[in-house]
Amino acid sequence: MSGLIPQHFIDDLISRADVAEVVGRRVQLKKAGKEFKGCCPFHDEKTPSFSVVPDKGFYHCFGCGAHGTAISFLMEHDHMDFVDAVESLANTMGIEVPREEGQRPARSYDALFELISRVARYFEGQLKNHPVAIEYVKNRGIDGATAKRFSVGYAPDGWSNVLDKFGTSKEAIDRLLAVGLIIRKDNGQHYDRFRERIIFPIRDSRGRVIGFGGRVMMKNDQAKYMNSPETVLFHKGRELYGLYEARQALRNIERLVVVEGYMDVVGLARHGIDFATATLGTATTLDHLNRLFRVCEEVLFCFDGDRAGRDAAWKALENALPQIKEGRQIKFVFLPDGQDPDSYVQENGAVAFETAMDKATPLSDFLLEELAGQVDMNSVDGRARMAELARPLLSKIPAGVYKELLTERLANTVGISTEKLENIVKRDVSKDAQFAPRPRSRLKQSGQGTGNPSIVRRAITLVLHHPETVVSLNIEKLADVSKPGSDLLRDLIETVQSEPNMTTAGLLERFRSHEEGRHLAKLVTVELPGSEDFDAGAELADCLTQLALAARKERLDFIIEKQRLGNLSDLEKDELRALSQGSAFSG
Ligand code: UTP
Ligand code: MN
Repeated sequence: MSGLIPQHFIDDLISRADVAEVVGRRVQLKKAGKEFKGCCPFHDEKTPSFSVVPDKGFYHCFGCGAHGTAISFLMEHDHMDFVDAVESLANTMGIEVPREEGQRPARSYDALFELISRVARYFEGQLKNHPVAIEYVKNRGIDGATAKRFSVGYAPDGWSNVLDKFGTSKEAIDRLLAVGLIIRKDNGQHYDRFRERIIFPIRDSRGRVIGFGGRVMMKNDQAKYMNSPETVLFHKGRELYGLYEARQALRNIERLVVVEGYMDVVGLARHGIDFATATLGTATTLDHLNRLFRVCEEVLFCFDGDRAGRDAAWKALENALPQIKEGRQIKFVFLPDGQDPDSYVQENGAVAFETAMDKATPLSDFLLEELAGQVDMNSVDGRARMAELARPLLSKIPAGVYKELLTERLANTVGISTEKLENIVKRDVSKDAQFAPRPRSRLKQSGQGTGNPSIVRRAITLVLHHPETVVSLNIEKLADVSKPGSDLLRDLIETVQSEPNMTTAGLLERFRSHEEGRHLAKLVTVELPGSEDFDAGAELADCLTQLALAARKERLDFIIEKQRLGNLSDLEKDELRALSQGSAFSG
């Protein structure tokens, strides 16, 4: 029982724990809408002021202020220490707690791996017994050999095929739940997650099945693809569909192409392109890139040529910047509008696809093209703005020859010296130290209202309640914001972005011992509108924009004030020009 409990395990555990069940076993609770109410176990009371919010995974007492997650409840109520609380919670959920001991994977997962692989074989067998499913797979252009290579299967119609066959004991049912194959109903009964779907097993780097993707065969009102949820075995932000199969097929992998879907990987493999891999409905993460570059030095991202495809490519570019190193190549393939790799290779064949890859756009070209497209390159202001836009991007690239060459190219494009551009980029890092604390007293007070701390508080509240809206947020905007709480806001956003399935309770646990964690406990009880048309994502994006604008305005005022006093450096003159240009845009 030694060794650290991995953070991801705690995140998973807390996101899947049912806080109402944990509390409800010890305190009498009554359902009230989406919450449960009861008398607080932490102080003496006759009228209930204690509430549990299962959706968000936390409890709160309006009387004495006690609050926390399933884990902290066990700690406070049952007087357990943290590790015991984690063990106890995991126990009731039928999973064992892994420990980080060297590189050896925890043995406790063996039973889960064993079960999920048996279910995978069952699905594979069912494909052979269902002519409609075979027909569908053939119609999608997949031959028997390819289907076999990817262990394509079929989950037949019915609510309890897997449950009946594999859930033969209480422990077995807990394991099926733990790997996401069945879903628990309110009344405690269970049903199969995958029903009447073509099944694509997802394997880890050692070839063990860790989850599934399932596709409907006919258009209906169901989601086209259903994936296993995040489980202790399956982490979407880390796994790549088809990578194991690629390594099996090829002795030597020179390049990997990242595509969007299961069918793209399988369709390409059918045509002999064995080095495709797909992220699982998420953006490419740092973890993904690390794994890809461990296999080979050239990674191609393949996207639709339309705006959405280019936006997705841009997101991939931003995530890839910290991974750039000499020798590594990152390229982008843009397919004709409306085509995905699967449809493209079916229509045009493998040679055409290979040609498209050979003509792929290097990351640096894509970066410069996109930035140039956002400004007027014929004006001085436009070129200054391009340098400004490039600043946060360049600063993400590790120092080295690649960064130097790209900086030089950019300097040539915007028509300033490389040295000057380097100074602009460096300023990003040094600026805060140089001017902190900013001499606010000398500033005009106008515009202060837009930057008041309540916007930061509002943003933090939104992140806490709706972590799912954060995943695609552009945090770059916050770079220049220095308000009380803005560091915490940035931390929270970065945490969610590195662990996209983070929940409210998960964030509370992570920030439990954080200096400012206690603020979170208060903010999590703030009521947000629950109506259908409340768009938390839009609201949050709006908060960030307001913060960014306020910060820019403050900086602009500061520089104008400095200019009035007649001591503006060359660098600040450049900045002034860029800033005035920017604020003209935003009104
Ligand atoms: P697409 O909708 O682009 O599907 O989803 P596709 O890969 O072209 O599939 P076919 O050709 O229609 O069969 C791409 C990926 O996005 C995720 C899946 O990982 C899918 O492979 N996705 C899509 C979901 O998770 N759920 C959905 O409902 C749709
Ligand atoms: Mn497709």
